[in-house]
Amino acid sequence: MYLDNDDERVLAGEFGETRQKMMEILVALGEVYGAGKLIPITGAQVSGASYKTIGRWGLAWLQSLNARVVVPTVLNPIGMPREGWQDFGIDEEFARHQAEVVEAYRRLGVRLECTCTPYYLRITEYGEHLAWSESSAVVYANSVLGARTNREGGPSALAAAIIGKTPYYGLHIVENRRPQVVIDIEGDTGPHAGHWGAIGHIAGKKVGNRIPIFQGIRPNRDQLKALGAAMAATGAVALFHVDGITPEARVFSFPTDGLDRVTVTEDEIEALFEDTGVEAVAVGCPHCSADELREVAELLRGKTTTKPFYVFTAAWIAKNNLDLVSVIERSGARVITDTCMVVSPRMDEFRSIMVDSGKAFAYVPGMCGAIARIGTRAECVEAATS
Ligand code: F3S
Repeated sequence: MYLDNDDERVLAGEFGETRQKMMEILVALGEVYGAGKLIPITGAQVSGASYKTIGRWGLAWLQSLNARVVVPTVLNPIGMPREGWQDFGIDEEFARHQAEVVEAYRRLGVRLECTCTPYYLRITEYGEHLAWSESSAVVYANSVLGARTNREGGPSALAAAIIGKTPYYGLHIVENRRPQVVIDIEGDTGPHAGHWGAIGHIAGKKVGNRIPIFQGIRPNRDQLKALGAAMAATGAVALFHVDGITPEARVFSFPTDGLDRVTVTEDEIEALFEDTGVEAVAVGCPHCSADELREVAELLRGKTTTKPFYVFTAAWIAKNNLDLVSVIERSGARVITDTCMVVSPRMDEFRSIMVDSGKAFAYVPGMCGAIARIGTRAECVEAATS
């Protein structure tokens, strides 16, 4: 892989051991994937921020680093809210370690915005090259915004943030962004046919890591977010197109003749909606947008929760929508920021959790050890208040 003079000097260790190690990570990645060069990035988003997922070895690695990021960089959700973690039932030992993780990232110059929806924080432009590592954010950036990022791991996103560059391969190259498989959705009349998280949950399993294109559907941005997050979780989808809706499907004309076709059937969708017992309810995977917060608030208005109900969102969305937060919390539900239903140890205490998300539905059993049930947002509110 071609490196310019400055990159060579970083690799030789002239700018310190941490920058040298970060450059080694990028060079190794580039060589594995056949990249010809490094390209500049305009931003990074780093996963591996919850102490629940990185543990003490991850923390020790972060604490060993001594450099600063050179592009705007934010974090994925951590394991607890940064304020009020005691009220969320986080124990002190976990909180101490989590605070050490946050401090390690702060020392590296990472902005302490902890969310899987960084695109609500800063306008992400069409064609921008990024190094993001949260899979649901990656698929949103590529598909809905037309930005370009591979599915980075936490260390490679951090390496890119510290060097300000990423290897030029995969989805950074326009030619690699063409659709590879057409998804047909059968039966748009079933009771859950408009549940985009459930559709994505099935579609992801069928397409794996290929780039799908949907035709004849018109989801809005929040629905595209739910669809992509679920496909990224059950498959490894990092980019999808929706004919007439997503930016590249509009800009490029992608011939679909000759592509594989898969069908998501109404029976497959309905089979996900099993009516199991529920101990707690959680919505906001990925983190709620302001519109989604408003929907939850309207559904909860005048009701009282009968079981724990958590609504996850980014801190600045909550701070800018205090009226909605207050309606939600008047019902007994809690709006929780900086963390999520999967990466917080709080949720490990429940044996069954109802979610509205195709991604959370896939992850809750393995990451929280709980039985997961999926429903619409209205069904989640119904379960939490009955
Ligand atoms: Fe975000 Fe956590 Fe879901 S990081 S996408 S809310 S699993």
